Amino acid sequence: MSSRVLAPTFTPTILVVDDVAANRELLDARLADLGYVVREARDGLEALEMLEADEPDLVLLDVDMPRMNGLEVCRRIKGHPTHRLVPVVMITAHQDRATRLAGLEAGADDFLSKPFDAAELRTRTKALLRDRELNKQLDAAEGIVMALARVVEARDRYTIFHAERVGLYAREIGRSYGLAGDDLEVLYKGGVMHDLGKAVIPAEILLKAGALNENEQAIMRRHPVEAIRIIEPLRSMARFVPIVRHHHEHIDGTGYPDHLVGREIPFAARIAAIADGWDAMTSDRPYRSSLGADEAVHRLRAGSGTQWDAELLSIFFDLLDHSLVERVAAEQLRATPRAA
Ligand SMILES: [Fe+2]
Ligand SMILES: [Fe+2]
Repeated sequence: MSSRVLAPTFTPTILVVDDVAANRELLDARLADLGYVVREARDGLEALEMLEADEPDLVLLDVDMPRMNGLEVCRRIKGHPTHRLVPVVMITAHQDRATRLAGLEAGADDFLSKPFDAAELRTRTKALLRDRELNKQLDAAEGIVMALARVVEARDRYTIFHAERVGLYAREIGRSYGLAGDDLEVLYKGGVMHDLGKAVIPAEILLKAGALNENEQAIMRRHPVEAIRIIEPLRSMARFVPIVRHHHEHIDGTGYPDHLVGREIPFAARIAAIADGWDAMTSDRPYRSSLGADEAVHRLRAGSGTQWDAELLSIFFDLLDHSLVERVAAEQLRATPRAA
């Protein structure tokens, strides 16, 4: 019996982009011989459209093409939030150093010289597709953790969308501070997964209507460490550990789980702590209803420099003055349409 009954074979798709039909056909034939699915685009714009419709696993890209040249196509792929993970190989004339440098600058992962060498083509595509497969697995791990974080949140109908909003608030604070790109992604996704550890907190504690007793509080306070036990074996999750582990630390060292003080607390966690504190105070909880915005601002101010980072807090207050709450509410509806 075939060993592939439960694990279907994965056939990578390669997008060949060249304005010369003969070049495309040549590459197409060789790649098909190697067992890949090949698609063809006749110029840069067509390539981007095809990429948008159905992401390939590798792009082979000619440089000189009408409508949009290969360097620009490469730059756009590498500037795209998700397509940037697709490896791009630029096809250059042999010894064309200037184009190779420009290609590197545009983010190309590798180069292939014309005329094509069959062995070179095989080795390069194989290596890049292996990296691509690994990247996809890391991506999948992240997707599963995000999904789990949302399931945890759904257990508790009182705090529904709290995690999503913490992610959105944290990202806005980071943006105002001057962060960009991947850093904002860490703040958003880290915010969404910050309370992941509540997955293992018993429902009678999580949903208790009254105040928690000392023992229950101790169990509840285990959630940052419990979350780390879930994500630590996943290496791609390392960038979220600071937020997940340290979002309950206080500047004066009275927080948990590690009683870190001031700047010992990771920067991302200091941001998430403000986002978390604000959203917790302004939403209904099993044990109390929302405190209201004025009271929440008052309490944040009272904890400035002791519980929360004073500089980041002043950025947050500034954002509140510029309709942050409304923007986050609108974005939350977009991100979690089931609320609509
Ligand atoms: Fe928490
Ligand atoms: Fe929280």
